[in-house]
Amino acid sequence: MGTLHNTLTVAFWCLVACTIVGAGPFSWMKKDSFDEIMDRMTAVTAENCRSKPRSELELPREAVSHVPVYNKLLSNVYFANRSMLLHMHNLAHQRAFYYSFIYQRMNTSFDFEHQPGLMYLYMSAAADVSASPGWINGSSLLFDNNCVYPNWYTTVDFNTTLPLFGPRAWRADDYNEPTNWLREPTNRTIDVEDYAAGRVTNYTAESYKYAPYTRYEYDPTDSRQEKPLFWWPDNKGYKDSLRKYTYSVGIKFSNQTGKFIREDYEGIPFFGPPQPGQSDKDITLPVLFTKPYFDCGRSNRWITTMTAPVVEYMPRYSTYIHLRRPRFVAVVGIDGEFERIDINQCPISEGNDPPNTFAGTHRCRSTTMCEPISGYGFRRGGYQCVCLPGYYYPWWHDGPFQGWEIEQATQEEYEYGFDCLKSEEMRVVPIQTPEFVSRGKRSTDYLANKKDEFMYVVNPAVRDMSANPKLRLIANRKRRNAEGEEINVAAAYQQKFVSRYAEETKHVRKKREAFEEEYWHRMQDIRQRFYNISKESCKFSEAYELYLPGDAGYGVEQQFEAQGRTALRLAHFLSNFLQNIDEYEQFGNLKGDRRLNETHIFGEVLAIVMGDFKVLGAGAYFDRYKFRVSPPVNTTDPRYSNAITREYFGPYSWRIQNPGDGLDAFRAIDSAGLEKPYTDELWFRRMKQRWATNFHALKKYIDKPMIRSSPNSTSSIRFEHYPITYRAPSYEDGEWSRPEFRCDGRIDNWVATYSVPFFGLNSLKSQIEFKGIVTIDVELRYLDINQCPADFYVANAFKNTAKCDFRSQYCVPLPGKGFEQGAYKCECRQGYEYPFKDLSWFFHGQTMEEEYAKKLNGEPHRYDTLRCRIAGASSVVANIALIMFTSILLLLKKW
Ligand SMILES: *[C@@H]1O[C@H](CO)[C@@H](O)[C@H](O)[C@H]1NC(C)=O
Ligand SMILES: *[C@@H]1O[C@H](CO)[C@@H](O)[C@H](O)[C@H]1NC(C)=O
Ligand SMILES: *[C@@H]1O[C@H](CO)[C@@H](O)[C@H](O)[C@H]1NC(C)=O
Ligand SMILES: *[C@@H]1O[C@H](CO)[C@@H](O)[C@H](O)[C@H]1NC(C)=O
Ligand SMILES: *[C@@H]1O[C@H](CO)[C@@H](O)[C@H](O)[C@H]1NC(C)=O
Ligand SMILES: *[C@@H]1O[C@H](CO)[C@@H](O)[C@H](O)[C@H]1NC(C)=O
Ligand SMILES: *[C@@H]1O[C@H](CO)[C@@H](O)[C@H](O)[C@H]1NC(C)=O
Ligand SMILES: *[C@@H]1O[C@H](CO)[C@@H](O)[C@H](O)[C@H]1NC(C)=O
Ligand SMILES: *[C@@H]1O[C@H](CO)[C@@H](O)[C@H](O)[C@H]1NC(C)=O
Repeated sequence: MGTLHNTLTVAFWCLVACTIVGAGPFSWMKKDSFDEIMDRMTAVTAENCRSKPRSELELPREAVSHVPVYNKLLSNVYFANRSMLLHMHNLAHQRAFYYSFIYQRMNTSFDFEHQPGLMYLYMSAAADVSASPGWINGSSLLFDNNCVYPNWYTTVDFNTTLPLFGPRAWRADDYNEPTNWLREPTNRTIDVEDYAAGRVTNYTAESYKYAPYTRYEYDPTDSRQEKPLFWWPDNKGYKDSLRKYTYSVGIKFSNQTGKFIREDYEGIPFFGPPQPGQSDKDITLPVLFTKPYFDCGRSNRWITTMTAPVVEYMPRYSTYIHLRRPRFVAVVGIDGEFERIDINQCPISEGNDPPNTFAGTHRCRSTTMCEPISGYGFRRGGYQCVCLPGYYYPWWHDGPFQGWEIEQATQEEYEYGFDCLKSEEMRVVPIQTPEFVSRGKRSTDYLANKKDEFMYVVNPAVRDMSANPKLRLIANRKRRNAEGEEINVAAAYQQKFVSRYAEETKHVRKKREAFEEEYWHRMQDIRQRFYNISKESCKFSEAYELYLPGDAGYGVEQQFEAQGRTALRLAHFLSNFLQNIDEYEQFGNLKGDRRLNETHIFGEVLAIVMGDFKVLGAGAYFDRYKFRVSPPVNTTDPRYSNAITREYFGPYSWRIQNPGDGLDAFRAIDSAGLEKPYTDELWFRRMKQRWATNFHALKKYIDKPMIRSSPNSTSSIRFEHYPITYRAPSYEDGEWSRPEFRCDGRIDNWVATYSVPFFGLNSLKSQIEFKGIVTIDVELRYLDINQCPADFYVANAFKNTAKCDFRSQYCVPLPGKGFEQGAYKCECRQGYEYPFKDLSWFFHGQTMEEEYAKKLNGEPHRYDTLRCRIAGASSVVANIALIMFTSILLLLKKW
């Protein structure tokens, strides 16, 4: 009895265990590299990160894919949300240019006082972060050992360096601040710290855990320890000729209104980050990115950093000139949050280059293929499964299978859904419209009648089926009236119209056509103007010809947001600086920053243009008598006792494009030297009118600077002003202008311009006031146009010009083609399939437009064949069962 009982018990528990262990509805999802990365990320928290070894604070480099590579920027298309990585890349590049320029331009001992001071460096880093919420999470400028000459200590000699110095800003989580009543992060509080002060101070030591790009580390394959992994140590001259590049910029200065000091450009050479050409084999990129790592003790997020080197002659002040060589003295780091960077789960293919940890973790069925979609960040499901060529969507499913739907499917759902059906009887693409042979049996009249009849039944009100892409299969209802006669409901309704006043006629609003002839012709006009105006002809053109309608610039504010935010960054920096810096302040041995110097602003606008190939020009225009500079040091001239105020100061920098593989040239002028004051220009007046008196819309930003307590100290204390607050515009406060051909002998190209104001304290320091405008000109050629149908209120000059066959197709814009026609694809609607056998599953807009143009010209064309057909409709398939059955029937009949 006992044994039986025991056996039964064991058997029972085995069954229970089997039931529990057996396959659950989600066990079809196998653990993959996404889960591994996820496990590693969740294992580290703000509390335990300090005790973790370095290997656990870093993720593999392959976890970030599709990283921008400098010399492929022009030839590659970046996905919408990759623009964040691109923005980080360009900003790092820009800051590297700025600091390289400024330290080499202001290299004499006389210039020492004019160099950017402590707060300049702090505020610049803070502006990088505050101007790009959601894109950039941190910014740093970390100096190598004994490479920084501080000009902000009264006790440190000008030729003496600090061992290390590294201001870094990051976005603080301020939800719990006493002043934040909403208890929601405002994203406008920035922490700034000196990396060389605080807990672990030597960020160049091999044992440093938190920032992989600052350590002295060598390429692991290099046993002689000569190839640094990032930029440091730079003491052996490793690949010096490749890693340092001489740039030359030309500047025209002005010392009085309406006049330049010299009529030609003063060439200023300086060393900067490397510049690989398109075809170079041995490339050294100007911007390197790090593995994702945990920003322990600071923002406590997983971040990845784009780094670029600052080059300068070292040692700067030394009588031993022969010892000097250009060195990487500092590294600029721009941090972005890892969780916001889209992963690509699709298999490795063209456009999804290795290395990519997440490649192949998608869950598309074998009849479909994977297409990444943007905006998902580090999350599963950022893809869709489109049918392979030769397959079509089942009738119950509209369009591609979404990744996030698949990722939450149970095993059963997964096995029976998400598959495409095979199209039979694929056709080959015709060369031109096939000629249909009409059959003799029925008269064509008869067929025409039948068609009319069918159309009437299917859709009595709208005869034109193209106007109504989704057929409404509602039979024509008949009704009997009181006398028992049949009446047509629709007809009866039509008769019901009674005019209320004499002239009133019946007005039926026709549903909007998906393609509009009118828009098409307008688009042709716009594009003609775009191509007709050239550098030469623009001087003889009418003023109106140099503009495109405002709706031709549809999408600039999204597509060029990164460029707009670059201008906004400068506006934030200037606002912060002009609202908080007082050169007469002195705290102990700490001097206040001197006022902005002309060279600083020239450097800033030059760097903006040099850092991003889409930017053609950038300017910072000060309002009249708003640019005040510090007096010369030790001046005895009473005119300079307080400050020098310039009437106009408007440095403007632009790019001279080199059509070949060579390097673009860069120039800058002080617009104060131009004959016509820039303050009279319409864009300046309009922006000033808007902001001269009313700045209540400005947002308040908070900086929290922590500094080291003394030059040699490593303890971190609060700066005397803590926190620093300033008011600055947000991206939406700026303005994108309509597309314009800038015919000024400098840019001579189509541009879209973003302008944004900046603010400072008035002369009494009682209130803020409008100080000027930052502008940025982006080349219009890079704007993607969208020809797909859109609602009536969408201000897009090119909408409703896609030549899809909207009865069977819908339109999807294709990004990355620029200001070119035909950048869309016509995909098959629900219930339709792609009929051709050519490894494609959609019709390309360019083909559609070419064929349509041929059709308009009366040439042989195949426009009318580029349609999707009703899914599974055309196949006439031999059915074995049917043949057998018929044969047997015939046989039986015979017998
Ligand atoms: C400063 O830079 C200029 C131009 O690069 C160079 O000719 C000059 O020798 C430098 N002066 C000092 C003191 O470094
Ligand atoms: C600005 O800096 C330049 C270069 O160091 C210097 O020559 C000039 O005097 C400075 N301007 C003022 C107004 O201090
Ligand atoms: C700095 O310059 C002073 C003279 O101006 C000189 O006496 C001193 O030796 C220099 N120090 C260094 C570290 O070069
Ligand atoms: C701050 O950022 C977070 C995360 O991006 C966002 O959810 C939140 O809405 C932002 N807060 C404000 C006030 O914009
Ligand atoms: C930091 O570490 C590096 C590399 O170990 C070393 O060369 C340097 O002297 C250290 N700097 C300081 C200030 O300790
Ligand atoms: C501007 O510079 C030119 C050339 O150096 C000089 O002749 C002129 O006096 C300067 N003007 C002023 C207002 O300083
Ligand atoms: C990512 O792209 C999607 C669609 O293109 C957009 O809605 C979303 O705002 C983007 N997100 C970011 C952070 O750029
Ligand atoms: C300015 O004056 C101070 C004290 O008179 C002197 O020590 C210093 O060398 C002077 N600086 C310059 C640039 O002349
Ligand atoms: C800082 O340290 C260096 C050596 O490390 C020393 O020569 C210098 O006097 C110190 N400076 C101060 C202000 O203490």
